[in-house]
Amino acid sequence: MVTELKKIAVFSSKSYDIERLTEANPDDSMLAFTFFEPKLTAQTVSLAKDFDGVCCFVNDQVDDFVAKSLVEYGIRFIAMRCAGFNNVDIEACDRYGVQVARVPEYSPSAVAEHAVALILNLNRNIHRAFSRIRENDYSLGGLMGFGLNGKTVAVIGGGKIGIAFIKIMQGFGCRVLCFDPFPTDELRETGVEIVDLNSIWSESDIISLHCPLVKQTYHIVNSNTLEQMKRGVMLINTSRGALIDTPAVIHALKTGRLGYLGLDVYEEEANLFFEDNSDKVLQDDVFARLTTFKNVVITGHQAFFTIEALQAIANITVSNLTSFYKGETEQVCFVSAK
Ligand code: NAI
Repeated sequence: MVTELKKIAVFSSKSYDIERLTEANPDDSMLAFTFFEPKLTAQTVSLAKDFDGVCCFVNDQVDDFVAKSLVEYGIRFIAMRCAGFNNVDIEACDRYGVQVARVPEYSPSAVAEHAVALILNLNRNIHRAFSRIRENDYSLGGLMGFGLNGKTVAVIGGGKIGIAFIKIMQGFGCRVLCFDPFPTDELRETGVEIVDLNSIWSESDIISLHCPLVKQTYHIVNSNTLEQMKRGVMLINTSRGALIDTPAVIHALKTGRLGYLGLDVYEEEANLFFEDNSDKVLQDDVFARLTTFKNVVITGHQAFFTIEALQAIANITVSNLTSFYKGETEQVCFVSAK
């Protein structure tokens, strides 16, 4: 059993990561965290020299070069402090012999509830009412909402977050449809209607994305699929930005095909999110156009960001790291290319 101190380089560190990871590691005889603010990229990987492991987040870029460099520094373990791992080249890690762990389930309800918050914001125009009240404007023109009861809500990806979301929407009295190529008993037990993608596009008043970003789901919402949707449909994406072809979505907002859009993720978010850019000029024209629509609400990848979820992420990350270095690998939530 290996018990000597392991030095871990934590990338993309924010004050809340430092606080929670430190709290989750009170007996620091096994893990010594060093917190780095920059993202892990080909340019910053050299910071990991002399460490035993790295800890990464959603926009760190573990590509072939980074994986190879980590092995050259003697690092064989990456602890992701998130569920998704589309930013990690898992095949390259397998090839070089770097093992990758993630936090598969920390608070599915946090993300599901955020998706619902976006829906309720949009269908009752809360974001517009908020600005008006601050301007002493109490007029109701343009604030007409629509009811959720009886509406058809579709979920793409009926995993842990999808199931939590399905249960909430059923509570609103919605008819809930789900597309998932690998439906589980737990999913079926919710009573959701499991349907094909064609039915999702054509029958839904609201579509919420809860699938991972993989080859099959890249730009799953594109000009073709948007054409098949009901006019005025609401689209919610709290999963990964590249599930959506953003220029096609902007076109659909302009024509009215898309009636409402709620986003917590954006394909090019790595250049924007998690930072205070308020004194800089926004360079991303596609994102800038998105922010001009009154029927679009965007949050900056904060669906996971609750006290409960951050605590769980820190605890599971520390557990993945300590179990790995103790050789108790059956306790580690590994990600695999296979
Ligand atoms: P999960 O692994 O429990 O569920 C994913 C589901 O998607 C599975 O049931 C799987 O069968 C299904 N799926 C796989 N391929 C599919 C396809 N081609 N089409 C439709 N469904 C497909 O994952 P979980 O925990 O529910 O998370 C879902 C996603 O949410 C993550 O992959 C991540 O991208 C995103 N996420 C976003 C967060 C945020 O803060 N915005 C936080 C955590 C996760």
